Amino acid sequence: MSLLTQSPVWRALQTHHKAMAQRHLRELFQQDARRFEKFSLLFNDMLMDYSKQPVDQETIDLLLALARQQKLEDWIARMFSGDKINITEHRAALHVALRSEQSMFIDGADVMPEVKRVLKQMEHFSVAVQSGIRCGYSGETFTDIVNIGIGGSDLGPAMVTEALKPYWISGITPHFISNVDGAQLSQVLQRLNPATTLFIISSKTFTTQETLVNAHSARQWFLSRGGSEKDIAHHFVAVSANRAAVEKFGIDPENMFVFWDWVGGRYSLWSAIGLPIALTVGMGNFYALLAGAREMDRHFATVPLDKNLPVILGLIGVWQINFFGISSHVVLPYDQSMHRFPAYLQQLEMESNGKRIAHDGDTVDYATSPVVWGELGANGQHAFYQLLHQGTQPVSADFLVPCQSHYPFGDHHRVVLANFLAQTEALMKGKTEQEARAEMTSQSIDAETIRQLTPHKIFPGNRPTTSILFKKLTPKSLGSLIALYEHKVFVQSVIWNINPFDQWGVELGKQLVGKILTELENHVPVTSHDSSTNGLINHLKANR
Ligand code: F6P
Repeated sequence: MSLLTQSPVWRALQTHHKAMAQRHLRELFQQDARRFEKFSLLFNDMLMDYSKQPVDQETIDLLLALARQQKLEDWIARMFSGDKINITEHRAALHVALRSEQSMFIDGADVMPEVKRVLKQMEHFSVAVQSGIRCGYSGETFTDIVNIGIGGSDLGPAMVTEALKPYWISGITPHFISNVDGAQLSQVLQRLNPATTLFIISSKTFTTQETLVNAHSARQWFLSRGGSEKDIAHHFVAVSANRAAVEKFGIDPENMFVFWDWVGGRYSLWSAIGLPIALTVGMGNFYALLAGAREMDRHFATVPLDKNLPVILGLIGVWQINFFGISSHVVLPYDQSMHRFPAYLQQLEMESNGKRIAHDGDTVDYATSPVVWGELGANGQHAFYQLLHQGTQPVSADFLVPCQSHYPFGDHHRVVLANFLAQTEALMKGKTEQEARAEMTSQSIDAETIRQLTPHKIFPGNRPTTSILFKKLTPKSLGSLIALYEHKVFVQSVIWNINPFDQWGVELGKQLVGKILTELENHVPVTSHDSSTNGLINHLKANR
């Protein structure tokens, strides 16, 4: 058994869970009229309500004791001080420096002059593109930006760019290409004019196969549609931490935006990886995004644990995952612009905490990251909420809701809000047998039908939800929201004693693909794998 699961606090939480599991959320609300005030927190114009979670004061006290036992405050300080907390890669995880206004150090060297230099480079470049000073080979202004990248070099910038649609500068349309399936690239390119298209090749390592295949095809397309070799310098820029590989690809280092090994891919949208964001919404809005994150960083680093949003959000997750055994977590934005947020969060949470080896190399004896998934609120209601309300799999949920919409169109936003409120109330309260019967009786339904339908009409309720409300989805509030989740993930990693900043689990597939790629080149039957893989390869060869 691990030290964690043997610890007195963990054991106390297990005992406490036995008691809490007997209590329905409905009952908790009935017993305490001040439950909302007690179990909600404010940060700027953000409200986090966790009163619809199965917690009482003892739960919170025990979870905070667990956080202290795991030395959470020390870990936070270590992250902010540039310690090499990514131990398997011997690196700092200092993404907070990307939005800092103060000096931040790694190995005694201040990283901020470089961070600021690259931000200025992004600013000059975006202003030049937006104003038409930096233009395409025919002298026309750029109208389309194509970001080619995958994982953290796609999901963060794509999510933010979409979420900030109300702030888009007119005349520039962003496109994001991540999938190596040629369909995505060809569908986008067929609508574009090479003379007015700017490509950003985004890859921290600049070795990612999918990105390089897409980048080479984009280059080919450009050259075959009127662009010349010398025009490449005007139309292709790179964002990377690997200067040599960028040069090898043929992009002039003059057209390169760097970032550093201490920025993890899934934490990189604040770096030059955010270039498509800056080009689409303007550098002023990009700075506002950074400011929102910076305020959340300050909150995380300085506010006591019991009033600290990322800490409480992370601990609530631990309570759900490790004590209630919940392994499925759904995120439900009630805002159309946030349609890429669940996909972004999947990488942030699952690539960070989907691990089973602790810092000391031992296999953990407790659950870590849940499966994270999600969809826009209203759409989900007509698809999978049935399972949330009446299914057999317990699912915890985060609801993300703006108080105001950017689109004051008819009565739409009031309908959105009413739906969010109705769903969270229904998930908490459910519907008892008595209520189901009374409802049908009032509708003059006959006794036999009532008897048949009653079990189907019962909702167990007691489904745990957290609601995060913000005034409006602005660059600043979005920055704070993303940083909230980044830090929540860190909090959980500290409790679980795992490194959230590496991703060894993506390597095996990458290793195998090279060999298989060669095997797919010809028609010779393959026998070097297991019978399933051989069978699949040979079937594909025969049917390509
Ligand atoms: O394979 C996973 C991963 O390494 C992610 O961690 C990363 O965000 C993504 O691939 C893309 O990597 P790169 O930016 O180096 O192309």
